[in-house]
Amino acid sequence: MEPIIINPIGIIHTPHMDVKNMPIQPIAAEGIKGYIELLPEYMEGLKDLEGFSHITLLYRFHNINGYELVVIPFMDTEKRGIFACKAPKRPNAIGMSTVKLISIEGNILHIEQVDMLDGTPLIDIKPFYPRYDNRENVTIGWLEKNKDLPLERLRSDERFKD
Ligand SMILES: C[S@@+](CC[C@H](N)C(=O)[O-])C[C@H]1O[C@@H](n2cnc3c(N)ncnc32)[C@H](O)[C@@H]1O
Repeated sequence: MEPIIINPIGIIHTPHMDVKNMPIQPIAAEGIKGYIELLPEYMEGLKDLEGFSHITLLYRFHNINGYELVVIPFMDTEKRGIFACKAPKRPNAIGMSTVKLISIEGNILHIEQVDMLDGTPLIDIKPFYPRYDNRENVTIGWLEKNKDLPLERLRSDERFKD
């Protein structure tokens, strides 16, 4: 297959300067604010986004080198297949976070519940629509044991830092 070239559409700014002790998911980042600086040439694409309370961001884990197909994820002590977890050190290093959209001012999108490092390159923005994005009757495999962990414990460490 041919390589795919992806051009970032903007940069995500957050207060997270280091992976140590930062949230591992938006749900554990309540109240933590950031903003997206969209490249001006994509601004027209923001039309009609303001009515949405949440947006899903696709981005590149830019502070990761290489990947591993089996890793010990955050909050775990056992090796898991990379496609069975959300760890950052993965092929293509693509992250996905649904965050709160607070406001839009020109090419700046103010967001909350950020779980990515400052300076993360943004690949895409999609509106969060519960009818399409929520699921019922799900099973959660090995993560079953983590489902009652208090949100404040969902923090990363330096295990994937190169
Ligand atoms: C477990 S991943 C989950 C991210 C996203 N919600 C997902 O499911 O794809 C979040 C962790 O990746 C690491 N991380 C976040 N942004 C990063 C970046 N730009 N480069 C490298 N690592 C990053 C931090 O340790 C953070 O706690």
